[in-house]
Amino acid sequence: MRLNGTMRVNKKGHLEIGGCDTVDLAGKFGTPLYVLDEDCFRDICRDYNSSFTRKYNAEVIYAAKTLLNLAVCRMVDEEGLGLDVVSGGELYTALKAGFPEERIYFHGNNKSPGELDMALKAGVGRFMVDNMYELELLERLAGKCGQKARVMLRLTPGVEAHTHEYIKTGQIDSKFGLVIENGQAMQGVKRTLEMNNVELKGLHCHIGSQIFELSSYSYTAEVMMDFAGRVYRETGYCVEELDLGGGLGIYYAEGDRPGSVQDYAGIVMEAVLEKAAHCGIPVPKVLVEPGRSISGPAGTTLYTLGAIKDIPGIRKFVAVDGGMCDNPRPALYQARYEACLANKVGEPPAEVVSVAGKCCESGDMLIWNIELPAAEPGDILAVSCTGAYNYSMSMNYNRLPRPAMVLVNGGRADLITRRESYEELVKNDLMPEKLAKK
Ligand code: LLP
Repeated sequence: MRLNGTMRVNKKGHLEIGGCDTVDLAGKFGTPLYVLDEDCFRDICRDYNSSFTRKYNAEVIYAAKTLLNLAVCRMVDEEGLGLDVVSGGELYTALKAGFPEERIYFHGNNKSPGELDMALKAGVGRFMVDNMYELELLERLAGKCGQKARVMLRLTPGVEAHTHEYIKTGQIDSKFGLVIENGQAMQGVKRTLEMNNVELKGLHCHIGSQIFELSSYSYTAEVMMDFAGRVYRETGYCVEELDLGGGLGIYYAEGDRPGSVQDYAGIVMEAVLEKAAHCGIPVPKVLVEPGRSISGPAGTTLYTLGAIKDIPGIRKFVAVDGGMCDNPRPALYQARYEACLANKVGEPPAEVVSVAGKCCESGDMLIWNIELPAAEPGDILAVSCTGAYNYSMSMNYNRLPRPAMVLVNGGRADLITRRESYEELVKNDLMPEKLAKK
């Protein structure tokens, strides 16, 4: 397993994160346990700040959907990043944490009137408007509140990014955004410019996630800038802000080769500057919305090994006390992860095993064919790079309580999300009178 952030092997031969022995963490807080490396999280925020903000005056907005709780909000705020939220729940969390409203960007392809109202009352910085229905709804609701909502329009640029490649499909079959190619995007811009309660601040797109091929970003920036040039020529409106979304890939396992934040910034900004000169328009303020590349490497999940099932000549399964409920990514996307035995990191590999979850579903496998030291029940398995889209996509299938999360730094571990209790699992269940046990 590749060591991220502050991970190291201590004198006992145990995995340490943030100066905390992970075997002790498992003992103290129980497993499964999400461990968040504070220095690692903040260092990546700082890398984004120095590569984008200080160098190019661009803005960095953390994608809350990857990992959010009150403590994470505060760290993002302290690091000076903006926050991309996509629901009333994420917005509520941000507001509860006292996140500055003006640095909140409200995304989503089907924001409800209630959510829009909540965001208007809170005074969020930007509404990332996805479609004409939302635009008209926002115009009405903002009017009612006597507010002018500042919006950016989400566009479909016709670029489909995959991990290793991107496709200039002119692909318009997406649930997100107004399509450039068929004229909807221009229509949206023109309509927004006529509105009284909505002010157009700029344009936005997002081409995908876990992207390794940085040229997909420069191509996207060019498409968006060309469109900004056309907008200027047709309407006289100068795009002030250009939000190019998130998506920078990270290393999960052998074979993953992500680009660096610095290279990403250089490629994006060069394309924007060049196109601005070419189209004869002022350089817009650029925004990026990284999520996975900030929270992913900072997270590790600890499990306790239980049942071990050996099928000689076929496979050895080692089962953990969590699985698809705390990390649905392998089941959903065939995502790959690396892991080690936290209490035996110093020991050489002895066998190839497959890590199974505990859910009643054959597809609940976390890792296929991984080399580990001889595994025994009670060993602590640490799976790395689980900071993004793990806790945020966790669920209660089989009524498994969601794990706790600790923030580790300098030998100290602070509980930042409590483990769900059985009591909490039934707290929303109601017993109708006719079924009540007499
Ligand atoms: N901005 C927008 C508008 C997005 O839709 C997303 C992610 C991001 C930013 C952040 O992208 P990131 O930097 O994290 O790649 N659940 C999937 C990933 C879904 C991505 C959704 N949008 C997974 O676990 O791989």
